[in-house]
Amino acid sequence: MPSMDPAGSKGSNGGPKADFFARKQRIEQQRKSLPIASVEKRLMDEVRGHDILIIVGETGSGKTTQLPQYLFNAGFCRDGKIIGITQPRRVAAVTVAKRVAEECGVEMGQRVGYSIRFDDMTSSSTRIKYMTDGLLLREALLDKYLSKYSVIIVDEAHERTVDTDVLLGILKSVQKARSGPINQLPNIDHTKANNGVVIDKENDSQRASSLNRCRGLKLSPLKLIIMSASLDARGFSEYFGGARAVHVQGRQFPVDIFYTKAPETDYLDATLITIFQIHLEEGAGDVLVFLTGQEEIESVERLVLEKLQQLPEEKRKLKVLPIYSSLPSEKQMQVFMPAPTGFRKVILATNIAETSVTIPGIKYVIDPGLVKARTYSARTGMESLVVVPTSKAQALQRSGRAGREGPGKCFRLYPEREFEKLSDSTVPEIKRCNLSKVVLQLKALGVDDIIGFDFMEKPSREAVIKSLELLTLLGALTEESRLSKPVGHQMARLPLDPTHAKALILASQFNCLEEMLIAVAMLSVESIFYAPREKLEEARTAAKCFSSLEGDHLTLINVYRASDELFEKSKIGNNREKAEKTMRKWCKENFINSRSVRQARDIHRQATSSFLGLKPKYDWQIRENVEQMGLHVASCGDDMLQFRRCLAAAFFLNAALKQPDGTYRVLSSGQSVQIHPSSVLFRTKPDCLIFDELVRTNHNYIRNVSRVDYLWLPELAPQYYTLKE
Ligand code: CDP
Ligand code: MG
Repeated sequence: MPSMDPAGSKGSNGGPKADFFARKQRIEQQRKSLPIASVEKRLMDEVRGHDILIIVGETGSGKTTQLPQYLFNAGFCRDGKIIGITQPRRVAAVTVAKRVAEECGVEMGQRVGYSIRFDDMTSSSTRIKYMTDGLLLREALLDKYLSKYSVIIVDEAHERTVDTDVLLGILKSVQKARSGPINQLPNIDHTKANNGVVIDKENDSQRASSLNRCRGLKLSPLKLIIMSASLDARGFSEYFGGARAVHVQGRQFPVDIFYTKAPETDYLDATLITIFQIHLEEGAGDVLVFLTGQEEIESVERLVLEKLQQLPEEKRKLKVLPIYSSLPSEKQMQVFMPAPTGFRKVILATNIAETSVTIPGIKYVIDPGLVKARTYSARTGMESLVVVPTSKAQALQRSGRAGREGPGKCFRLYPEREFEKLSDSTVPEIKRCNLSKVVLQLKALGVDDIIGFDFMEKPSREAVIKSLELLTLLGALTEESRLSKPVGHQMARLPLDPTHAKALILASQFNCLEEMLIAVAMLSVESIFYAPREKLEEARTAAKCFSSLEGDHLTLINVYRASDELFEKSKIGNNREKAEKTMRKWCKENFINSRSVRQARDIHRQATSSFLGLKPKYDWQIRENVEQMGLHVASCGDDMLQFRRCLAAAFFLNAALKQPDGTYRVLSSGQSVQIHPSSVLFRTKPDCLIFDELVRTNHNYIRNVSRVDYLWLPELAPQYYTLKE
C-alpha cells in the first residue's frame, strides 16, 4: 500500500500520490509566502467594517487568488451566498479560477468556478465565482439586485475598461438599493427569470403587486471591493464618496532597464533578436515578451521555432508559449508550468500579462512599447483597433514583471527619449470607444438618462448622442429614445455587438438565419486564415477552394461548413479525440487556424456547456436565444442573394463605394479606406461593399467585406439613404 502520509512521500519517485502531496505542500508554502498572507486578518476586519473597500496592491501580491478564499473562510458565503470576482479579461478569469480550485483542492465548477461568455463552469455549489465584468453586467439584466452575491470584487479596476466603468456605476446603485428597505423597485424593468431567461416585462399591475409583496422587506447588504494595481486609489475613493482605501505592500526587486539607441524600424525583428540574445548570452530565467495580438504572437512563435532549428542541438532548449484571450483554456495554463529541466521558457503575451495574470519564473521582459487599443471618432462614428504606444504606467507595470522573484532585466525596444514622451496613464476606454453597446445595455437596465448616468468619468456628450442616433437607425430605440419592442429588447438580449445582433434579427426575415448564425460566430473569433510569410502563395491557393466571389462572409461560411462536415464525418464511432485530430490536420493543410474554427463551432453549436452535465444557465447561447425569441431559423440554401441583401440591411452604416483610384469611401463618414489584403475581394474590388470592421495600421483597412448592390441601400435602409444620394 502506498503511504498516505504526505511527510513520508516526498520526491518525484514516489508515484502520482506523492507528486500530488508534494505539489499541495508547495502550493501551501507559496500561499503563505505571498505578501497579502500576512495581512489576512486585518483585511477581513476592514471588509467587515466597510461596505466599500478599495484595495491597492502590486501585481503578484496575491489579491486575486487569495482574497476570495479569505472571504470564504471568514464566513461571507453563509446562507449559500456567492463571492463574485470580475476580471476585464477572459483568460484571467479562467486561469485564476483554475489556480484557486487547485489551491482549495476542489474540482473546477464545484466550490470554485468561472463564467465567461460562451463558457460556464459553475454549479449550484459554486461559492467563489470568477467572471468577466461584462458577464456580471448581463446578470444584472436578469437580477437587478444581484441578490445571490454577498461580496462583489471588481478586480483590475485600474484597467478602466468600458465594462468595468459601467459596472462600477451599476454596482453603486445596486448597493444602495440593497442597503435600505424595499420601498421602491429600482427603475430597472422588472423581468421574470425562467431558467435564467428573460421572458417578458411585468405590466404595471404585476409590478405594483410585487412591490406590495416586497415592501418593507430588507435584502442582505452587498459588500463591494474594488481592487487595483495602480498605486493611486484617489479616483476610486472619491467616486465612492471617500471610501476607505488600503494598501497591500508588495515585494519588488530591482530591474535594470535597457533602451535601444535608435528607434526600431521592424520591432518584430528586434524582438526576435533580443529573444535570442537573452537565450544565448544571459543567465537562467524565463522571458516575457509583450506583443499586440494573436496574429503577431503566432508569427513570432513560428519565427522563433524556425530560428531555433538553425542552432546547434544543445542550444535549442527554449520553450515558446503563447498566451492571449482567445487561446483555448487548456493551452493557457501551460504558461504557468515550469519549463522542462534545462529549458528556458519564453512567453509571448498580449498585455494580459501586464497585471491580470502573474507568471512565475520571469527574469527578463522584452517590451516593444506597443499595445492594441480601441479608438473612436465621434465625428465619423467609426471605431477602430489601432496599435499605439503604451503609457508610462503600462511600461512600468511591464518592467515590474521581471523583478518579482529576484533582480531582473527589461529591454525596451525604443530609445529612452521616447519613454519621456509617453503619456502618464491610459485614457479610460469609455472615452475612446463606440458606446452603442453600452447605451443599449444601460437602456435595458432601465437607465433612461445616459448622459446623466453616474459614470466615474463621463464619456463625451457627442459620443453618447452618436450612439443614440446609431441605435435609433438600427431600430433599437424609439423616437423618444426608449428601447423599442420587440427589436430593441431582442438586441439587448443578444450578447453581441448591436450591428451583429440586428443582422440576426433581420436574417430571420430574410430566411437566412442559419447562415447568419454561422457568419456571426465566425466574426466573433480572431482570424480564421493564417498565411506564413514564406508560404504565402501556397496559403492563397489553399484558401481559393473556399473563397466566394461574393465576399468574406460567404467565404467564412464555406470554411465553417467544410470543417463541420469533416468533423461530423470523422466523429463516427463517437471518437471525439480522433475527430479533433483529423480536423487539426485538415486545418493545417488549408492554412486555417484550427483554434479559431473550433471556437466558432463552440459558439455556434453551444458545445461548451459545461462538462458538469448542467444545462447552460446564461443567455449567451446565441442560437438558443434566437430560437426562444421566436425568430425563424431557416436556411436560404443556394440563394445567396438573400444573404447579401440581409448584410446590406444590417451593415448599411458600414457601406463603402469604390473610388477611381481603387480605394473606398465610407458613405456614412466620408472616410477613405482600403480593403485588407487578407480579404477575398482584395483584388476583385467590387463597386459597392459593406464591411465588418475598420482596423487602422499604416492604412485604414476594412476587414470582412462583402459585395452589395448600392441600389439596395435606399431600398433596405430608407431610414438612412435616399435614392438621390
Ligand atoms: O492579483 P495579484 O496580482 O495581486 O496576484 P495573484 O494573481 O493572486 O497571484 C499570486 C500568486 O499566484 C503569484 O505568485 C502567481 O505566480 C501565482 N499564480 C500561479 O502560480 N498560477 C496561476 N494560474 C495564478 C497565479
Ligand atoms: Mg490580480
